Amino acid sequence: MPFFEIQVLVMNMYALSDALFCIPVDVHTADLFEGIWTIPNGVSLNTYLVKGEKTALIDLIQDHPPAASEQVQAALKSVGVDFAALDYLILNHLEPDHTGWLREFREKNPRAEIIATQKGVNVIKSFYTIDTGLRAVKDGETLDLGNGKMLTFFEVPNIHWPETMVTWDASSGTLFSCDAFGSFGALNGRLFDDEFSETELLFFEKETLRYYANIVASFSSFVEKGIQKLSALNIACICPSHGIVWRKNVKTILDRYLRYASYGKGQGEKEIALVWGSMYGNTKKGLDALIKGIEAEGVPYSTHRVPDDDISYILTSVFKSAGLVLAMPTYEYAMFPPMAYAIDIFRRKHIQGKTVLRIGSWGWSGGAQKEYDAAVAQFKWNNLEPFEWTGVPAPQDLAVLEDRGRSLARIVKEG
Ligand SMILES: Cc1cc2nc3c(=O)[nH]c(=O)nc-3n(C[C@H](O)[C@H](O)[C@H](O)COP(=O)(O)O)c2cc1C
Ligand SMILES: [Fe+2]
Ligand SMILES: [Fe+2]
Repeated sequence: MPFFEIQVLVMNMYALSDALFCIPVDVHTADLFEGIWTIPNGVSLNTYLVKGEKTALIDLIQDHPPAASEQVQAALKSVGVDFAALDYLILNHLEPDHTGWLREFREKNPRAEIIATQKGVNVIKSFYTIDTGLRAVKDGETLDLGNGKMLTFFEVPNIHWPETMVTWDASSGTLFSCDAFGSFGALNGRLFDDEFSETELLFFEKETLRYYANIVASFSSFVEKGIQKLSALNIACICPSHGIVWRKNVKTILDRYLRYASYGKGQGEKEIALVWGSMYGNTKKGLDALIKGIEAEGVPYSTHRVPDDDISYILTSVFKSAGLVLAMPTYEYAMFPPMAYAIDIFRRKHIQGKTVLRIGSWGWSGGAQKEYDAAVAQFKWNNLEPFEWTGVPAPQDLAVLEDRGRSLARIVKEG
């Protein structure tokens, strides 16, 4: 049984030029990405081929049935490249979604030199017990494939693993960026940004933000550093390992990632994410009054119920919003457990800079607020005065809550 079961697999071959090709693989699965993040819209895993006098494959995909290798071999054959004769395999990043069938690759092609950073080579040895035919490249090192195809490797550590690099083809201005500039969402038979409708691009924008919030958020200062490092390059095309290839509006995806990095460092949109849990509706009644206040100020908001809504989406809304409401009752002298989990995820993902209001109902002694205060003590948050009430909110509680909603919305609006 594979660890990550791919139920549907579609593999095509696209020409970026007469020397550059992409083999995007659409993955649809009920399994979770990285074992934690839901991907109801699928995800693509993109392998690239560069043809000079010599040939190089860039990044692989996850292993699974039906065998990836057979499909890649067929795709290569369609552009006259013999898999067994490939000269190089460049691995920008060693996470198994890009290296899953590396051992099989090595068995079927013992001649290709496998290229990664030194840290990447160490991972290849420990994850795949491959010791021969490896070459560690340094930052700025080049690889001449002949026919004018000279590749340069740039280290971009910690986007999001420490061994990460990108591969640059100066002759065409193409950046093979692996996870950087990547997105969730299957491609469904298209590849380039100029092939998608406005609606589809909007869908990918949402899936790019969700990918960033789930996978990359903790490493936002490294994303900024990486983009800064690549800023001297005249990039005509961005080829990530997940999602759309950007050849028309390269700046769109660069700006998007820079904006997301700013969220990671504490900025946010003038929006409010409301995360709530309620056993019998008392907290929900209070939340509804709060929402009235927010609506009166005209500030956009999103609502997510715990544990019903998936943490992947909750994290995404919280990540991008300047304002945050955490509404939960007391449960066994402490926080409502699914909210404790959500808050722990926010901590792990370094969610910071938010203006936060915590509200909730309790029955006889309370306890949620005490645990909450301890849980968020280290967060770099602007914590507004919390508001609690007993049982069902009284009319005066509802008035206070509506007023609190207004104040929070004003802070977010003016912030
Ligand atoms: C399983 C359970 C555990 C509870 N534990 C506590 C508690 O330890 N302390 C307390 O003050 N109230 C406790 N309560 C009471 C709730 O906090 C109270 O009924 C509150 O109004 C529930 O809000 P809700 O309807 O939004 O869930 C508990 C209620 C339930 C159902
Ligand atoms: Fe990764
Ligand atoms: Fe990846």
